[in-house]
Amino acid sequence: MNTPQAQATRPVHPLLNDQKLKLGVFGMNCSNGLLISEAQTTFEMTWQQALQIVTKADQMGFEIALPLGRWRGFGGKTNFNGTSFETYTFAAALAAATKNIGVFATSHVSTVHPVVAAKQAATIDHVSDGRFGINLVMGWFRPEMEMFGGSMREHDMRYAYGDEWLDIVQRIWSTEGAFNYDGQFFQLKGVQGDPKPLQERPVLINAGTSGAGMDFAAKNVDFSFASVDKVENIKKFMAVKDIAATKYQRRIGVCASALVIARDSEDEACAVYQSILEHGDWEAAKNMMAVLGIESQSFNERLAKSQEKFVAGYGTNALVGTPGQIVEQLQVYSNEGLEGVVLYFLDYVKELDYFDRKVMPLLREAGLRH
Ligand SMILES: Cc1cc2nc3c(=O)[nH]c(=O)nc-3n(C[C@H](O)[C@H](O)[C@H](O)COP(=O)(O)O)c2cc1C
Repeated sequence: MNTPQAQATRPVHPLLNDQKLKLGVFGMNCSNGLLISEAQTTFEMTWQQALQIVTKADQMGFEIALPLGRWRGFGGKTNFNGTSFETYTFAAALAAATKNIGVFATSHVSTVHPVVAAKQAATIDHVSDGRFGINLVMGWFRPEMEMFGGSMREHDMRYAYGDEWLDIVQRIWSTEGAFNYDGQFFQLKGVQGDPKPLQERPVLINAGTSGAGMDFAAKNVDFSFASVDKVENIKKFMAVKDIAATKYQRRIGVCASALVIARDSEDEACAVYQSILEHGDWEAAKNMMAVLGIESQSFNERLAKSQEKFVAGYGTNALVGTPGQIVEQLQVYSNEGLEGVVLYFLDYVKELDYFDRKVMPLLREAGLRH
C-alpha cells in the first residue's frame, strides 16, 4: 500500500483545501441538535433528515460534516441529545452517499479500543475515497462515561490516555507488519492493521481548551476547535498555534462552531433567537451546566454568566442577523484567525437552503469562499 507511487497519489482531505473560511454542518446526528429548546422546527433526528442535511451541505461545497459524540441525554423535558446515531457507522453511511464533503466520527477515545478504531477509520477512509476524519474527545459527561464501566479518569489523565490511544492508532495506520506496544494504559502484542487509510493520515481535530487539551491538540491534530463564547475571546484560542509551533514544530489551524440564525430582517432573526430561549428546556441546560462545572476545567468561567448561551448552543456565541450581517460576523471570525466554522441551525433543512441562496453568494463576494 505504501509504495512511493501510492503516496504520491494519496487523497487530501477537504478540510485541508484552500478555502479561506472552511464550512461545516454540526450536530445533525442528535435529537435537538445543539439547541436545548423546544422552539418550533421541522428538524427531527432521523436518518432521512441527516442524509438530506449532509447531502445539501455536500452540494454547497462544505468541507465537513461533524456529528456530536453522545451516549445518553441530559434529562429535562426534552432529554436533550438523548437520541443519537453512533458516529463511526454514521460517517460510513454518509461516506457512501456523498461526493466531496469530509465525513467525521466524533470518538470518545475511552469507548473504543484503538485497534478497532484504527480499522474503522481505515475502512471509512476507503469508503469515502480519503474524506474521513476523527474528532478526538476525551469525555466530560460522567454518567455517559460510566456507561462503559469503571470510573472516569482525572481531567489531565484523560488526555494522557488519549495521547497513547492515538499513538497506537497512528502506528497501525503507518506500520507495515506487526508491533508490540508497552505503554502506561495499553500492553498489546503483535498489533497490525491493513488496509492503511487512503490519506497519508485521516484528518484529526480536537476541541480541548484546557492546558492539557491545548497541548494534546498542538501535538496531535490538524485543527483545534475553539469554543468561542465571545468574539473578544477568540484570540486566546490562538495560543494553540504557538504551542504547536514552538513545542512540537507543527502547524495547526483553529476553527469554531456557531449557531446561525439568518433571516431577511434583523428583527426576524432576533425573534427566532428569543423564541429558542423562551422555549428553552432549562432543566436539561442546568443538568448539563452542573456536569460541566464539575467535570470540565474550561467551561467554569462561563457557567454563571451564560445560561442562555447553553440553551442556544452549548455556551457558544451565536451569529444572528440578515445574510449581510452573518457574513460580517464571519468576516470578523476570519480576521481573528479562525480558518473555519461548523454551523448548526434551529431548522437545518430549511435554513441550509436559505444559507445557500442568501449567504453563500455574499461569502464569495467577501472573498471568504470561492
Ligand atoms: C466544536 C466542538 C465539538 C465538541 N464535540 C464534543 C462531542 O461531540 N462530545 C463531547 O463529549 N465533547 C465534545 N466537545 C468538548 C471538547 O472535546 C472538550 O472536552 C471541551 O471543549 C473542554 O475542553 P477540555 O477537555 O480541554 O477541558 C466539543 C467541543 C467543541 C468546541
